[in-house]
Amino acid sequence: MRSIKIVSLPGDGIGQEVVASAVQVIEKVAPKFDLEISIEEHLFGGCSYDAHGEMLTEETLAACKNADAVLLGAVGGPKWENLPHNKKPEAALLKLRKELGLYANIRPAKVFDALADASSLKKDIIQGTDFVVVRELTGGIYFGQPRGYDEEKGWNTMVYEKYEVERIARQAFELARKRGKKVTSIDKANVLEVSQFWRQIVHEVHKDYQDVVLNDMYVDNAAMQVVRNPKQFDVIVTSNLFGDIISDISGMITGSLGMLPSASLGDKYALYEPIHGSAPDIAGQNKANPLATLASVAMMFENTLDLPEAGKLIYSAIEDTLSKGYRTGDIKSEGCKLASTTEMTEQILTSLDAVK
Ligand code: NAD
Ligand code: IPM
Ligand code: MN
Repeated sequence: MRSIKIVSLPGDGIGQEVVASAVQVIEKVAPKFDLEISIEEHLFGGCSYDAHGEMLTEETLAACKNADAVLLGAVGGPKWENLPHNKKPEAALLKLRKELGLYANIRPAKVFDALADASSLKKDIIQGTDFVVVRELTGGIYFGQPRGYDEEKGWNTMVYEKYEVERIARQAFELARKRGKKVTSIDKANVLEVSQFWRQIVHEVHKDYQDVVLNDMYVDNAAMQVVRNPKQFDVIVTSNLFGDIISDISGMITGSLGMLPSASLGDKYALYEPIHGSAPDIAGQNKANPLATLASVAMMFENTLDLPEAGKLIYSAIEDTLSKGYRTGDIKSEGCKLASTTEMTEQILTSLDAVK
């Protein structure tokens, strides 16, 4: 039996609820694949600040570095919104990503057939959509110096080093090779020098991947194209800020932010998290959609644990549960079976037993 150590960071708001769901699913799936998984929970974000006066303690960081994989819920909320900028939960999330070297954020946007009606877009536009956003996660305007604000002005810096663009471009081309062999690089090269540079480096890397088709798209057009015709995309590669925005737009194609998972990968560590936040408006009400987090767990089994079959099993259980009509409030439709977070989780657990 293989032993695996996972650190879970439920964080704040619905992070607590969706990670509780994920833990049950991990515990159900692991023995089916002869895995002994220990899950060690740590405080991170606002809850850590309330307990220790720090959003990310040395202890939590060390635990993450000592784990095979990290599973994160979400951080943030109104309670901590007015703290100084560098003390906010969101700043701690950036620090965690940087410390773990998680430069590649993989955000797959796949429309489940059963949910083709849940999007605010027309069914024939979105049905069959299956693309992946590869977002650069440890550079760009999120991290560039100088940054700050005073009474007269506020400033940030968007900067990319050559090696940062090269490695994320390689991730995108490698991924495209396993999929539809098409990469769309999204930038703002008509206005920003940093984007011109980005474009140049992506094209240089492309010379090693001539079997993959590369095209460039300006970010404003890309935002429009993602809702106009999402099926044109296979792999999107883009910078930190543009990727943040484009992936939330992609969320609406799949029906809800509560459906989009992500993997944040580096050379040494891996972290899995839904793309949504702590959803203060529904936190603590057992209403959150756990499926983005469960799909993130599927990605964890596929990537870090090298068990694609386990990942597929979780995806099948999600399909099965949706096709039986179970829906949390964010994806509800006429005639569906409205389910709470815990009811949805129970259905997934039942399906997991049924499918294998
Ligand atoms: P949000 O993603 O938390 O919520 C946006 C909307 O989507 C809300 O109406 C919410 O109810 C809904 N929603 C999100 N996830 C859902 C789910 N799983 N099921 C059902 N509905 C869901 O974004 P926000 O409101 O802009 O941010 C709230 C807080 O979360 C902020 O502090 C923000 O900084 C933080 N945040 C954290 C992360 C993270 O930890 N990775 C990501 C995004 C936002
Ligand atoms: C995300 C979030 C984060 C980001 C915030 C909370 C720092 O929006 O994971 O998409 O902007 O990266
Ligand atoms: Mn975001």
